[in-house]
Amino acid sequence: MELRVPKKLNILGIESSCDDTAAAIVHGCPGGTGEVLSSIVVGQTNLHAAFGGVVPEIAARAHVEKLDVTVRQALVQADLTLQDIDGIAVTAGPGLIGGVVSGVMLAKGMAAATGKPLYGVNHLAGHALTPRLTDGTKFPYLMLLVSGGHCQFLIASNPHEFRRLGGTIDDAPGEAFDKVARLIGLAQPGGPAIENAAKNGDSKRFKLPRPLLDRNDCDMSFSGLKTAALRTRDAIISERIGLTPQDQADLAAGFQAAVADVLAEKSRRALREYLKLSPQNPTLCVAGGVAANYTIRSELKRVCDEMAVGFAAPPLALCTDNAAMIAYAALAQMPDRLPDDMGLSAKPRMPLDTSSPTMLGHGKKGAKA
Ligand code: KG4
Ligand code: ZN
Repeated sequence: MELRVPKKLNILGIESSCDDTAAAIVHGCPGGTGEVLSSIVVGQTNLHAAFGGVVPEIAARAHVEKLDVTVRQALVQADLTLQDIDGIAVTAGPGLIGGVVSGVMLAKGMAAATGKPLYGVNHLAGHALTPRLTDGTKFPYLMLLVSGGHCQFLIASNPHEFRRLGGTIDDAPGEAFDKVARLIGLAQPGGPAIENAAKNGDSKRFKLPRPLLDRNDCDMSFSGLKTAALRTRDAIISERIGLTPQDQADLAAGFQAAVADVLAEKSRRALREYLKLSPQNPTLCVAGGVAANYTIRSELKRVCDEMAVGFAAPPLALCTDNAAMIAYAALAQMPDRLPDDMGLSAKPRMPLDTSSPTMLGHGKKGAKA
């Protein structure tokens, strides 16, 4: 009897939902593992630096200028031509609509011109499926997405099924890191600047709140913490003219410890929910720029050790926004989905779990679900 070996495909991924223009090629079998042949990410940080946040119009224009170049670079890096591509996957939402439209239009144009199948992908599914690409993590696993634009706990049961256990009701944690860094005179992006300053700080000098820990659910809030940091800063300034480097370090350390405590305690609660499913190899995965923070990572690892759960964090380049995760998500979903037609539209909001109530948070990087 002849065994049918599923054909391996080359999937081109395109991502433009926020402030990174990205293209990548992933090689693998539908529903199987994947190999990243190339991954190009062109950031826009310096274009937005003067405005204190991502400006959607500027982001959209920069995507239009850079998308075709990144696709070309991804092909060159993989040593392939467009003829070698078997499918085109593109982020169809959620995100800043101008950017998402730019990517979707390019993908549709390429699909129409080449006759290759088109796959619209949910950006959050891309993040949530990354541990399968990088670590082969077994379903079901618990995912904590923490970046400048996202903050949610998801149970991933298969490539199509994600249950949201909770998320932020206002700012994403990365957004709070960026805002607090600005308030206390540190550079952008605020996460690394705060982490660095906090190394010389006393996290106990200032009493900052741990929002929503009194609520026995998995929802989070970081906006009040940011306001508390602002009040603390103003109180110091009212006593003397400005902040000393030690004041900055102590405030940075206090803020970082508060975020780490909230994420750790909410992870404990989310893990309790997840463990009710009796997973074979229970795993907590983290993704997003905030997962780069050593204090936060160590706290999450400690919670996992306490609860005898594995801990996985994909390499940072695949943890933050990229197009390999979009190509891989299409590949993973392919056995149970059809390609999209030219009716594929870009969506600013696109919840992964449509059965959970809509989250309120918008933030500087657009809608969070
Ligand atoms: O995932 P990402 O590159 O982009 C999106 O937000 O989609 O995450 C960037 C965010 C920024 O807000 C940045 O300040 C934060 O992640 N971040 C960190 C650290 N490195 C980056 N936050 C805390 N500690 C860090 N070391
Ligand atoms: Zn993202």
